[in-house]
Amino acid sequence: MKNTNMDKLDKILNRTIESIEKSKSEMYDIYENAQKEYKRLKKELNDLKKKIRSSMRLVESYEKQLAKSKFDLMQTNKNFDKSTEKDMKDIYDMTDQIMIDLAVERERERNLINQRNDLEVRVKALKEIVDKANNLINNVSVAMKLLTGDLKVLSHQIGDIKEKRNLGVKILLAQEEERRRVAREIHDGPAQFMSNLILKTEYCIKLLDSDLDKAKKELDKLKELIRNGIQELRGIIYDLRPMSIDDLGIVPTLKRYISKIMEENNIIIKFSSCGNYSDLSSVIKLTIYRLTQEALNNILKHSNATEAKIKLSFLQDSIELLVSDNGEGFDISNLEKQKHEGEECGFGICSMRERTELLDGKFVIQSEPKKGTRFYFKIPY
Ligand SMILES: Nc1ncnc2c1ncn2[C@@H]1O[C@H](COP(=O)(O)OP(=O)(O)O)[C@@H](O)[C@H]1O
Ligand SMILES: [Mg+2]
Repeated sequence: MKNTNMDKLDKILNRTIESIEKSKSEMYDIYENAQKEYKRLKKELNDLKKKIRSSMRLVESYEKQLAKSKFDLMQTNKNFDKSTEKDMKDIYDMTDQIMIDLAVERERERNLINQRNDLEVRVKALKEIVDKANNLINNVSVAMKLLTGDLKVLSHQIGDIKEKRNLGVKILLAQEEERRRVAREIHDGPAQFMSNLILKTEYCIKLLDSDLDKAKKELDKLKELIRNGIQELRGIIYDLRPMSIDDLGIVPTLKRYISKIMEENNIIIKFSSCGNYSDLSSVIKLTIYRLTQEALNNILKHSNATEAKIKLSFLQDSIELLVSDNGEGFDISNLEKQKHEGEECGFGICSMRERTELLDGKFVIQSEPKKGTRFYFKIPY
């Protein structure tokens, strides 16, 4: 469920990125074309401006020529008697020609200026398109960075959060299961035994009237029963919180626990430890204890082993715990299969994995049918 949602999120993200990538390349085409056109028009505008300037210069020089020509004409008119008819005609013709040239050049100049004005409007509009496209591309690049980088990280963080929540739920379930187990133990043990005590006490009270000797014997039995009951109760309390962990340390506590298991069961357990340790946190100590306890429970329950080994190594920055047996072993792929089919994995193995992962540790099981089982834990500190 969790993974399908993550996959969906990833798919949506990838599709979004793809379509933005496509839009980005289209935007880039628009930008490139606009930029090319802009450069071309800008050059055209510069050429036009040059032409206008030279046309203006021409107009100016025609105007000067015309003024001069008009002056000459005036002079010729004044000195009418000194000039020949041909001279006068030449000056008239020249003035005429200059006036025509000037009119043509002025018209050309006006045309050029009109063209320049049009072109200036187009260049301005194109510049706006180029700037806008450039801005858009920049913005899209930022969005892309967010989507491909930060959002991806975010989506993984969401995955993390979901996984943590799942872990939280499993821890709650584990606590619930633990309470159920303790309730069952108290019910089967101390509660049962207290009811027995009442019956036995009532029997003793009756005997006190009739047979004092027998009553005394029964009271002795009762005392023994109470002693056993207290021991059983202590066992349960010890199991809930092995107090000696903090007082004695993890190694002596484990040794004590192991010798108790060997007394009660038909199995040899070899314990060894190496390396120095000090200042282990309570959580780590308790985790090591619980991991050993669960692994040993499994050995007793499932393996039919005659021998088990527990090795605790205190390394530079981590603790390694190895619990192995010479029992029947089992097919680990079954656990994986259960996991893939969405079933809960075995409760004990699940809780071992969770306890280890909570402390950023590593957990490996090696087992094959008929070849025994090894549980390996590495916990950093
Ligand atoms: N030391 C072992 N030897 C053989 N089989 C084991 C051992 N430890 C675990 N298993 C197998 O793995 C399964 C899952 O173990 P676990 O998660 O502790 O659940 P449970 O003990 O409640 O069955 C067990 O049912 C058993 O088949
Ligand atoms: Mg188990």
